[in-house]
Amino acid sequence: MAHSSLHAQPLVSRACRALRGVFTPPGDKSISHRAIMLGGIAEGITTIQGLLEGEDVLRTVAALQALGASINKKPNGEWSIQGTGLSHLQKPNQILDMGNSGTAARLLIGLLSGLPFTSSFTGDASLCKRPMGRIITPLSLMGATFQSTDGKLPLDVTGAKQPLPLHYRLPVASAQVKSAILLAGLSAEGMTTVVEKVPTRDHSENMLRHFGATVTITLESDGAEAICVTGRPFLKGQQIIVPADPSSAAFPLVAALLNAGSNITLRNVGLNPRRAGLFETLREMGASITYIKAHDECGEPVADLKVEASRLKGITVPAERAPSMIDEFPILAIAAACAEGATRMCGLGELRVKESDRLALMAEGLKKCGVEVAIEKDDLLVYGTGYPPEGHCLITTEMDHRIAMSFLVLGSVTKQPITIDDGRFIATSFPEFIESMNNLGMDIAKSFSAPLV
Ligand code: S3P
Repeated sequence: MAHSSLHAQPLVSRACRALRGVFTPPGDKSISHRAIMLGGIAEGITTIQGLLEGEDVLRTVAALQALGASINKKPNGEWSIQGTGLSHLQKPNQILDMGNSGTAARLLIGLLSGLPFTSSFTGDASLCKRPMGRIITPLSLMGATFQSTDGKLPLDVTGAKQPLPLHYRLPVASAQVKSAILLAGLSAEGMTTVVEKVPTRDHSENMLRHFGATVTITLESDGAEAICVTGRPFLKGQQIIVPADPSSAAFPLVAALLNAGSNITLRNVGLNPRRAGLFETLREMGASITYIKAHDECGEPVADLKVEASRLKGITVPAERAPSMIDEFPILAIAAACAEGATRMCGLGELRVKESDRLALMAEGLKKCGVEVAIEKDDLLVYGTGYPPEGHCLITTEMDHRIAMSFLVLGSVTKQPITIDDGRFIATSFPEFIESMNNLGMDIAKSFSAPLV
């Protein structure tokens, strides 16, 4: 699963024409990981339409294959999984390399915490810097044991022989931690409960139910949700249709808002309320985004989004909204840089432990482009002038796909082009990004000229 090139691939984005056209963004990354994992541990056949074939999800595919599931892509483009049944996953005879993917690593470590063998996990330089203590703590309480040098990858996990059910209140708002515990809880006898004060994406809960598990939600006295999974369920193979990823749709959407005269339609975009915070925020800023053909697919709401170029105004984004748009702050910061007035994005501490320190990298990159920015504790402030900034700089992306795509979108409106230092990691979540964006009207190309500083 190595990147096609061993060397960094700089890309340059130049001012472009209005964006026009109809486009279906790639499949949802979160749902794709979960579909492969649950299909792998279910009994019988699971078929998946619209799977994201990005590098992150292909890591999950390879891991489940190493654990004994049979997974193939059929000639019609659907994926088919012959699951093993949960207790029949087998000890992998290779190190499970999760590449750039925090979701693949954390959810799989959770799943394997309940199975009585040792697995070794590693990842790329970005993933090996990310905190795993947040899952090691609860999974250890369930009986799993870990070997790692500093609570990060690489690590070995030995699953509990008799995993204990757990009742755990999340100390950070994290769907990955919630999901890791729920997946470990599948192997425990009894009920495993995760309490979350701030709602995070619920794709694991939805998909567990879809495969036949019992997942109940109750409210604690302080209003927090207690999500409870009953252990040792019978999971049966299912047919799954993956909606387009709202986090990927965000890039063409913001590019269309910013480029005068644009009018695009993004088809079949997932609109789970716990993922749709960006759309709500942009509408508050004055964006013209219309939902059409809204319907449900496999328990997830989807719609087509009609997007027209709009003049945006700065606003304050409240901290409670952050989990519902946690991956969208880089592209929101780009929109804010072109909006009129200040935008304050509150409660972004978690951005420091994503694929990169997104808070620091967005501030640094925007400053290079000529935008006034400040970080105040966990808040990011972007002072838009109502006009696109200068550009004419080289952006550091630190193996982070969303930083890369965000600044390429900004380059479509800046006075001078924007170059990013490395576009290879875009393939983790949006492999056809350059071609798709150029088809809509953008101008992104490989950069061979001497780098700007
Ligand atoms: C994800 C959850 C989020 C998000 C990540 C995908 C998931 O991370 O940033 O890209 O699929 O559960 P956290 O739950 O750690 O915030």
